[in-house]
Amino acid sequence: MNPIPSKAQLAARRVLVVGDVMLDRYWHGAVDRISPEAPVPVVRVEREELRLGGAANVALNVRTLGAQATLLTVVGQDEAAQQLRQLLHQHDIATVLRDDKQLHTIVKLRVIGRAQQLIRIDFENEPDHEVLSQMLDAFEEQLPSHDLVLFSDYGKGGLTHIPRMIELARQAGKPVLIDPKGNDYRRYAGASVITPNRGELAQVTGPWKGEPDLLAKVDRLRSEIDVDAVLLTRSEEGMTLFDAGGVTHEPARAREVFDVTGAGDTVIATLAALLAAQLPLEQAMRLANKAGGIVVGKFGTATVSYEELAA
Ligand SMILES: Nc1ncnc2c1ncn2[C@@H]1O[C@H](COP(=O)(O)OP(=O)(O)OP(=O)(O)O)[C@@H](O)[C@H]1O
Ligand SMILES: [Mg+2]
Repeated sequence: MNPIPSKAQLAARRVLVVGDVMLDRYWHGAVDRISPEAPVPVVRVEREELRLGGAANVALNVRTLGAQATLLTVVGQDEAAQQLRQLLHQHDIATVLRDDKQLHTIVKLRVIGRAQQLIRIDFENEPDHEVLSQMLDAFEEQLPSHDLVLFSDYGKGGLTHIPRMIELARQAGKPVLIDPKGNDYRRYAGASVITPNRGELAQVTGPWKGEPDLLAKVDRLRSEIDVDAVLLTRSEEGMTLFDAGGVTHEPARAREVFDVTGAGDTVIATLAALLAAQLPLEQAMRLANKAGGIVVGKFGTATVSYEELAA
């Protein structure tokens, strides 16, 4: 059985989550007819559902496990930003939100009719330079009161200053975890752990032929970008940790799989909460894998509680 920090230990730990936030909006409705204007169904919306997405979902996962979470991010000056603030407040997540009036708060709107997603509509654009440098100042202010920094990169432009932020965090002696995106990992130099999934890793190392090739590729990447550990999340294959101590693999432990979206967020949030509570990386990884296995077995909710993790 894996040791796990006590609830009180976790409650005293503070994780600073920095990254791209999204509001997941769902419009549920009835479909009674086809539009006379175009060959598309007409949905009569009956109910709206809102969920925290991206870095906000990561912060929610940290909080659900019982650690403290502060979310530092940029939002627009719109209704979606108000709804995000409200949801974050309801979930007891501390916020440092910089707002940018030209920015569309990222919204992913799904229209669901007859229990089927009919379309997804995304609203987004890139944040302004000035607001991004305000984020850097806010980061410096927040850093001393947190135990660990977690960057949730969804490639939406909110992490332009990540190299400087990592440098500041490491100077202050705080571990840095990153859920990466894109094809330039040099901007993550100095991180403690990065957690790509298979597709994300293949984008930077190229595809691998078998485990020895994977190890060689990850070793090369680790030394090129100066990252202590790479935790590769492998969906139904579980996860593999590559660090100075070698390679550690954990098979997936989900009994039934219902909904895999957000599993990566749960994994990095669990790792963050446990590392903030000083658990060694290998043990934290085993529990993060367990959390991933729990969350894929759930419909709707994409979080794991302390009790579920400890069970
Ligand atoms: N199909 C699956 N069967 C069993 N376990 C799974 C499955 N998918 C995910 N998991 C668990 O969740 C962890 C993270 O999943 P995955 O590697 O898919 O992350 P991801 O691609 O970043 O997810 P997402 O971006 O959708 O949040 C895995 O390491 C594993 O523990
Ligand atoms: Mg992911």
